[in-house]
Amino acid sequence: MSLKSTSRRYGSVAVSIHWISALIIVLLIGSGLRADGAADAAARIIPLRIHIALGLTVLVLTLARIAWWLFADNKPTSVPAPRWQSRLSGAVHVLFYVVILGMTASGIGMLFLSGAAPLIFEGTAANLPDFDLYPPRRAHGFGARLMIALFVLHTGAALYHHFLKKDGLMQRMWFTRDRP
Ligand code: HEM
Repeated sequence: MSLKSTSRRYGSVAVSIHWISALIIVLLIGSGLRADGAADAAARIIPLRIHIALGLTVLVLTLARIAWWLFADNKPTSVPAPRWQSRLSGAVHVLFYVVILGMTASGIGMLFLSGAAPLIFEGTAANLPDFDLYPPRRAHGFGARLMIALFVLHTGAALYHHFLKKDGLMQRMWFTRDRP
């Protein structure tokens, strides 16, 4: 399997970034909800540390992914589909980028405005701020719900192609060998 994509399938760089990002986003949603619902500051600090480290990792991966598509690789040819499906899937893909960048910007904004980063990584849990007092928190909460909706739509579409249409769309985004 080559590093770059071909007209029929994604290359190993795109496939790796895709699946690592998907796993991190699931962990981000879990750790974010866990921090938000924590009963006290002590229970909040560990999920928050994990959440922030993963959030910054997904930001780096997303910027790398954008640079990869812009400067190094071309996407495979789209599979034939009704116009509305192609439009919807294109919109979901663009929205993923917008929401990931918006979530990381609002996350960094919350830390910056509240000055919480040193408290989260060096200090005690007792003085953690209430993030609801800072405007980016609302955008982050809204983005989280949008992200869950996109995730459900995107996964639903992939499963529909794999199990009902059986058109090999999922195999294009996996580490399978190139057929000779
Ligand atoms: C794609 C990236 C991200 C996703 C999917 C994500 C997801 C979430 C979710 C689901 C919540 C809970 C929202 C709620 O219940 O209303 C949350 C809260 C939060 N996130 Fe993120 N997040 C991301 C990136 C980041 C980054 C990069 C940072 C910081 C640098 C960050 C900092 C926070 C903070 C401080 C909270 C509030 C936790 C609390 O209220 O105790 N997030 N995030």
